[in-house]
Amino acid sequence: KRRPASDARENLDQLLDLENGRMSRNMFWDHDIYEQELEKIFARCWLFVGHESQIPKSGDYITTYLGEDNVIVVRQKDGAVKAFLNTCPHRGNKVCFADAGSARQFVCNYHGWSFGIDGGLKGMHASEAYEASGLDKSQHGLHPVAGIESYRGLIFATLDPAAPSLAEYLGDFRYYLDAVFDMDEGGTEFVGGCVKSVIQCNWKYASENFVGDILHAGWTHDSGARAMIGGPVAEVHKFPEQSYHVNFNGHGWEFNQDIVGNAATLGEKDLVKYLYNLQPRVAERLGEVRSRMIGSISSATLFPNTSFLPGQNTFRTWHPRGPGQIELHTWTFVNKAAPQDIKDKWRKGTMMTFSPTGVFEMDDGENWEYSTKTNAGFVTRQQDLYMGLGSNTRLADSGLPGNVFKGQINEANQRAFYQRWLDLMKSKTWAEVPQRDTPMLPTTGTAQEKAA
Ligand code: FES
Ligand code: FE
Repeated sequence: KRRPASDARENLDQLLDLENGRMSRNMFWDHDIYEQELEKIFARCWLFVGHESQIPKSGDYITTYLGEDNVIVVRQKDGAVKAFLNTCPHRGNKVCFADAGSARQFVCNYHGWSFGIDGGLKGMHASEAYEASGLDKSQHGLHPVAGIESYRGLIFATLDPAAPSLAEYLGDFRYYLDAVFDMDEGGTEFVGGCVKSVIQCNWKYASENFVGDILHAGWTHDSGARAMIGGPVAEVHKFPEQSYHVNFNGHGWEFNQDIVGNAATLGEKDLVKYLYNLQPRVAERLGEVRSRMIGSISSATLFPNTSFLPGQNTFRTWHPRGPGQIELHTWTFVNKAAPQDIKDKWRKGTMMTFSPTGVFEMDDGENWEYSTKTNAGFVTRQQDLYMGLGSNTRLADSGLPGNVFKGQINEANQRAFYQRWLDLMKSKTWAEVPQRDTPMLPTTGTAQEKAA
């Protein structure tokens, strides 16, 4: 069945037929679809921009991306966090060239306009000339993002003034985020620096892998696991009874109740011991179910392009760079209250597994690169892909928030991810985006407050 690429651009519905488990390859290759993603997904959603621990003091900043829009995220004098487009309103030059640092102001290299950490235009070289031209400085500051909010130390920003609140956007997924980012008193912090790399793949391949594809681990990562830990990755398809897919608003997490499966792949017995010792305290804090998720064989994606692995403690954002490339930013997160040697072991373990030289990162990157590159073939591009594994029947009586599915070997989360993608791509406004899920948690207040 041959389908011209232009049809796919004009009719987004043709890209996905999730009921029949099929999707088009055009969404991983087409430049027009990518342009629409920048507008409908990346310029509208709440996107991860940093962890509170990266900018503790006034003037501390990081630069990052919302899609391809470069932004400066900076701590204010009153402790709040603001973010601005990293571009000078005079001729557009970049105003901050560092990835992170501390500043009292940002000065443009071109004509010397200077901006306060609140984004306001403060002054410039030859200011008298502008005064004579009647420039109103209050109208020419750095362009602020439309919204910036934190949840459990994770800072998110949106470029869309009509976006729902972050609480609403994350929705029931907050319940699961708490199992990792609020498992212990004091929450988490990022340790070490940001590791960056480029992978020649479509961003959705990375996001959907982490949203629910444990299936690949026992095959793709088998030799890496044997090298790292001297044995195979646990074969989760052999214990479907204690494992689940959960998703909400396109965010997804799959997990089993193994407690330390992911942590064990770092080959450090002390990390496994640390999690076993912590588990009863987490059970007291968040309940038994979530206490068994803290380091289990699991992975998660926050729609659209941020992912993490509990227990392995890598946190990552897949920044899109065209339909065929991503710039990957990764960090290691740890419990702030953990002993220093435990933090160090996690930092090293994460680098051994999920960094550009990590055994598992390379396995994944190669798969996603070839999954993307094969679509260069005109006829190849017309052939649909399979997306039909597992069941779409939600568990009615799980008692857990979000959409819960039995078994980890399922593509339920991937289907929910792509459904959300399509819903956003087709909707002109947030009001048009269909509400497919029934929230259990309130959109104000936190998951924990609701549970209490
Ligand atoms: Fe920034 Fe002219 S471009 S001062
Ligand atoms: Fe993988």
